[in-house]
Amino acid sequence: MEKTVVLITGCSSGIGLGLAVRLASDASRRFKGTARALGGSPGGREDPPPSLGARSRLVYATMRNLAKKERLLECVRGCHASTLEILQLDVTDPLSLAAAAQQVQEQRVDVLVCNAGVGLMGPLETCSFQAMKTIFDVNVFGTIGTIQAFLPGMKRRKAGKIIISSSVGALQGIPFNAVYCASKFAVEGLCESLAVILQQFNVHVTLIECGPVNTSFLANLQRTDAEGSALQGLDPQTRALYSQYLQHCQSLFRDVAQDTEEVLQVFLEAICAPCPPLRSFTTQFFMPLTRLKLTSPDGSEYVRAMHKFVFSAGEAQGDQA
Ligand SMILES: NC(=O)c1ccc[n+]([C@@H]2O[C@H](COP(=O)([O-])OP(=O)(O)OC[C@H]3O[C@@H](n4cnc5c(N)ncnc54)[C@H](OP(=O)(O)O)[C@@H]3O)[C@@H](O)[C@H]2O)c1
Repeated sequence: MEKTVVLITGCSSGIGLGLAVRLASDASRRFKGTARALGGSPGGREDPPPSLGARSRLVYATMRNLAKKERLLECVRGCHASTLEILQLDVTDPLSLAAAAQQVQEQRVDVLVCNAGVGLMGPLETCSFQAMKTIFDVNVFGTIGTIQAFLPGMKRRKAGKIIISSSVGALQGIPFNAVYCASKFAVEGLCESLAVILQQFNVHVTLIECGPVNTSFLANLQRTDAEGSALQGLDPQTRALYSQYLQHCQSLFRDVAQDTEEVLQVFLEAICAPCPPLRSFTTQFFMPLTRLKLTSPDGSEYVRAMHKFVFSAGEAQGDQA
């Protein structure tokens, strides 16, 4: 049976690392059934699981900085030399992308997971041009470049899956995340447009719409320091709103953030499904807000509801004070 080749970007931590580990080393019956589906046998969950060990270099886990590979290696505990290979890939560097593509020994990628991404949080007035450009370079042009590198092969073979680590912030605006949302909205437009054409090539595009996930994402994102000098030139009202937002964000991650394992299930389902949908949601929590886009297309209800969702706790506290 021909092996399935998966390439994932951004595997130094979080979702990318978790997915690489899961695909390369999950020994559960379900995943091995999944692996069979990966190999092109739909509905194979009831079948005896094939041995993953026989599938050399099933997963190409890529990261921009190979100095960070120890964590991934620790997680797979060195047992999966035949199912995992780590490659350097900076999605903003076309040479790095071309070199990584060349190192795929099978000369093809069946499942491409565009996961690398960075966040930017703060009042728009405080976001530097360079910081905004970096967000677009990684999240938008990095994703486009990665797809461009592997799409011709998928179209030629008339087979392939492109899975994107997307976000509820790709479907709805989130205060103080305007640039991040803009970049993720852009990827939605990219993928939705591609999906229309690619169905003719049996290439499936799936956006995994994640809510908050317990990864290092929040710690890694660039953010305007609530106490820092960048805020000093801003009007007091925006400063107060930002401070309220930061509290909201903290409680949101504390109360509703999903564990990576829960989110990975949704990725695995998309990877295994014969015809995965364009969008898969990891959580229903934000659905009432997301639906407002359809039920109230002029946007006014969404703006009101999102404002209430983020700032009402602070307003209530303010009322009590
Ligand atoms: N966690 C959440 O709450 C959440 C919610 C919605 C969507 N998402 C999306 O999920 C994806 C993964 O995020 P995560 O939660 O796993 O966060 P994470 O732990 O911070 O992982 C982000 C990964 O992207 C990599 N990366 C950044 N710039 C890159 C570049 N130029 N080239 C290649 N890799 C690069 C990082 O590598 P370095 O270690 O080198 O920086 C890291 O491996 C992102 O696209 C994010 O937007 C996350």
